Amino acid sequence: MHCTTLVLIAICCLGTGLSATTSVPVGTIPASNFYLNLKSILRNVPQKQIEHLVQAYLLNDAEFQAVVREINSLTTYRLGLQLLNQPEFRQLLQWTSQQLILAGGSIKVFEELELEIKVLNKHPHWAQSVNGINGFEQEFSYLYPVAAIRKLLESSAQQSPVFGEFWRRVVALKPTYERFLATPQATGLANRLRALGVDVNNWDATLRYQLGWSNETLPNYDYEYNYGFY
Ligand SMILES: *[C@@H]1O[C@H](CO)[C@@H](O)[C@H](O)[C@H]1NC(C)=O
Repeated sequence: MHCTTLVLIAICCLGTGLSATTSVPVGTIPASNFYLNLKSILRNVPQKQIEHLVQAYLLNDAEFQAVVREINSLTTYRLGLQLLNQPEFRQLLQWTSQQLILAGGSIKVFEELELEIKVLNKHPHWAQSVNGINGFEQEFSYLYPVAAIRKLLESSAQQSPVFGEFWRRVVALKPTYERFLATPQATGLANRLRALGVDVNNWDATLRYQLGWSNETLPNYDYEYNYGFY
């Protein structure tokens, strides 16, 4: 688990997993292809706002800092590698990388989601505006348009055969995810995160909804009221 925001774990892992892959330049790119399609969907992740939110909490909030330390512990790092090394996950990465190259892009399209955190508060009020891990979770849920992104993924899958195959493969990872969650190591991590105040069930539900592993919309989420503070 390389990312500070658990809902982005899978996407970030896709990005870091194959970031060494080089892109093949292609003369002409059709107006609508897999790479451009994926890129336009990823643009809906409010990366800058998430970066500011994470920065504000990382610099000023002790509860959030403890969660980030847990995510960065050697045990959790190893667990992240274990997830990346699941055969089904590797196959998806490989297939996605190939398709992106064929479309004139590369797996680096996911690098745009990486967070770059600076060490000083951007705004002085940040020191007072943080509100524990639950405050972070609430603000993140206001910022991140999970339902809109799910809709875009599904509509792209209907419009393009390659995107359809990509989405089918993402949805098919559900048993891999569940097998992974059931391991004592993953259960241990979930328990440690819970003890630190993380709403693990809500992150799990968000991830499942985002990646098509569940159709249950999230109770405390309504992106009609998408009013980020950053
Ligand atoms: C979600 O809904 C779609 C469309 O009705 C269906 O094909 C799919 O199997 C459902 N997924 C789950 C996890 O229930």
